[in-house]
Amino acid sequence: MTSQNIYILAIESSCDDTAAAVMHNGKILSNIIASQKIHEDYGGVVPELASRAHQQNIVPVVDQALKKAGVKKSQLSAIAFTRGPGLMGSLLVGTSFAKSLAYGLNIPLIDVNHMQAHILAHFIDEADFKKPSFPFLAMTISGGHTQIVKVTSYFEMEVIGETIDDAVGEAFDKSGKLLGLGYPAGPEIDKRAKLGNPKAFAFTKPKVDGLNFSFSGLKTAILYFVQKQVKLNPNFIEEHLNDICASIQYTIIGILIDKLKLASKDTGIKHIAIGGGVSANSGIRQALKDGEHKFGWTTYIPKFEYTTDNAAMIAIVGYLKFLEGDYADQSVMASARLKI
Ligand code: KG4
Ligand code: ZN
Repeated sequence: MTSQNIYILAIESSCDDTAAAVMHNGKILSNIIASQKIHEDYGGVVPELASRAHQQNIVPVVDQALKKAGVKKSQLSAIAFTRGPGLMGSLLVGTSFAKSLAYGLNIPLIDVNHMQAHILAHFIDEADFKKPSFPFLAMTISGGHTQIVKVTSYFEMEVIGETIDDAVGEAFDKSGKLLGLGYPAGPEIDKRAKLGNPKAFAFTKPKVDGLNFSFSGLKTAILYFVQKQVKLNPNFIEEHLNDICASIQYTIIGILIDKLKLASKDTGIKHIAIGGGVSANSGIRQALKDGEHKFGWTTYIPKFEYTTDNAAMIAIVGYLKFLEGDYADQSVMASARLKI
């Protein structure tokens, strides 16, 4: 660990959460998130509304992060921000803000890839959490992505499998929508799954070769199943909601664990991490943990607050890049489809 005092202010605005965090030498001092409730009324994120809300939230969120950390702007070593991937209008708000602030304070600006950040969140200094050893496999599961990444060092990452259609978070959210649950439905399905029977209803797993995933077929299968049952019993959903949620979650976990098993076999790597919003799911967290005795894995499960979108994960990438002197210049632009 360095003897210098490095303070990073990080900004995340890739989707519908406006977030800011302050980090000191790898430790989080503050981690503030303003979630945008407005999208709940629309059953999904409305990009135009998201960028407007970021515009409103960004100054108060950054102010709060600095205050809570007890750090003055003049103490900051660098500004880190999410460059992509994400919604362009949302990314532009954070990018422009970060560029102006770094310019005004005359300190380095550091661009961060959101998907790398979900993975490197495991390197935030936290007393009860061990850091992965290289090489490890990281499964990033969120509302926009489903990937298996081979991580050789902090910045050497290779995507070895990904979804060919929907992301796993969409599978949760879209299934939840057709059951009448609010947006995002992932956390609600998780809660109800704990009360239901995971084997009550069987959904076939998609057949996709290699390490890629597919979730659109599952969504359709659930839709047809529910439509058919509701025809027979109009109260089917209300009467069986917990069992349906448990069965959906069980199927999704099975798909994810099967692919991880295959990835581990193919690469010979038994160190396995998860990240992204869906890694908040209690069933997935447990299934991964079970992999330790079932398959001899060493597993890394992120602290709950670093699973869904947050700026702490942007801060750790900013810190690691700062140590390497890897800065962006003022010509850097947001990139909606930035790759790992
Ligand atoms: O990483 P994230 O906050 O945003 C993206 O980058 O997409 O992930 C959001 C996704 C949503 O689809 C949400 O339903 C899902 O994460 N999610 C969950 C849980 N908590 C959040 N899915 C299942 N179980 C949960 N407990
Ligand atoms: Zn994310």
